[in-house]
Amino acid sequence: MSATVIVDALWGDSGKGKVAAWYASKLGATYAVRAGTGTNAGHCLYPSANEIIKTRQIPLAFYKSKAKIRVGSGVVVDPRILLDEIATYSLQDRVKVDYRCAIIEPRFIEMEQNSSHLKNTVGSTASGTGQTRAAFILRQALQAKDLPELAKYTTDVAQELNEACKAGEEVIIESSQGTYLSLALSPDYPFVTSDNVTTAASIDDVGLNWQHLKRVVMIVKALPSRVGAGPMSGEITEAEVHKLGIEEYGTVTGRLRRKGHLDFDLLKYAAMLNGPTEIALTFADHFDPDITGSDKLTPKVKELIKKVEKACGAPVRLVETGKLYSNLVELK
Ligand code: IMP
Ligand code: MG
Repeated sequence: MSATVIVDALWGDSGKGKVAAWYASKLGATYAVRAGTGTNAGHCLYPSANEIIKTRQIPLAFYKSKAKIRVGSGVVVDPRILLDEIATYSLQDRVKVDYRCAIIEPRFIEMEQNSSHLKNTVGSTASGTGQTRAAFILRQALQAKDLPELAKYTTDVAQELNEACKAGEEVIIESSQGTYLSLALSPDYPFVTSDNVTTAASIDDVGLNWQHLKRVVMIVKALPSRVGAGPMSGEITEAEVHKLGIEEYGTVTGRLRRKGHLDFDLLKYAAMLNGPTEIALTFADHFDPDITGSDKLTPKVKELIKKVEKACGAPVRLVETGKLYSNLVELK
């Protein structure tokens, strides 16, 4: 029993990559593995004010941990992005993807970019992820094992992870997007991504036997955001977002994110689906500017934590008070 899954409660963009990096370092993980859909997700982490680490394919946990970096077989792989991230961060000896991962081909990206349904109605990131999944389901996709340029970067991730867990090692599984973007579990179809992104979906994405699952960290973004179309309860106006100075732009698409207040009924349902054992409350500085960069909770954030814990039925362990990696505060 030694795997930790990191999932998002709502619509993503909540710092899963950064939180997963924190857990990998804290627990001394031997593996950090990406679950989720594909390269539609953009994860970023700020080691300092003028330094940024950004990835779309691999987990960010290479920062501050010695974990081996893996991508599970349920995640589709864009070889161009994968090889670029490996080269950019000099990870030739640490990164491997499952040999069964389906491959995003340039034609799949073009098909998404030319689909007015995906681009205009759904608000897809047009990364080729959904089109590749469709080809995979129709048994028409290439897999990582079919590409000579990936030969030295493939392995059986499921076997590695299950063996590591059996040996008592720590494994961190990083999901993508958010619970309410799950294909078959969100009430908002078609404004969803191309697979489920819950706890159960995540362990399936990486081939982990459920008996190894020890911890589920559900991320709650204190002032949630949504990119693309679809309902968003508690949404505030763009003018209000500007007035509060809390604009956020998508890592992959550069789009301004819609923002809103937490809906505790949605949180409760997300907790029912994901079964969190602990919560990471991120973007607390957007909810209460007074907490920015601090390692002490403000009364307003303390109040919020109580409500979040009640809705989720799990304790808040980690609070993010600013954009730097060092702004993650563990509650004792
Ligand atoms: P797709 O998965 O790129 O086709 O996008 C489908 C929907 O999911 C759109 O509303 C996207 O904005 C949203 N989406 C996809 N990836 C992410 C992500 O990483 N964060 C937040 N929303 C995402
Ligand atoms: Mg999946």
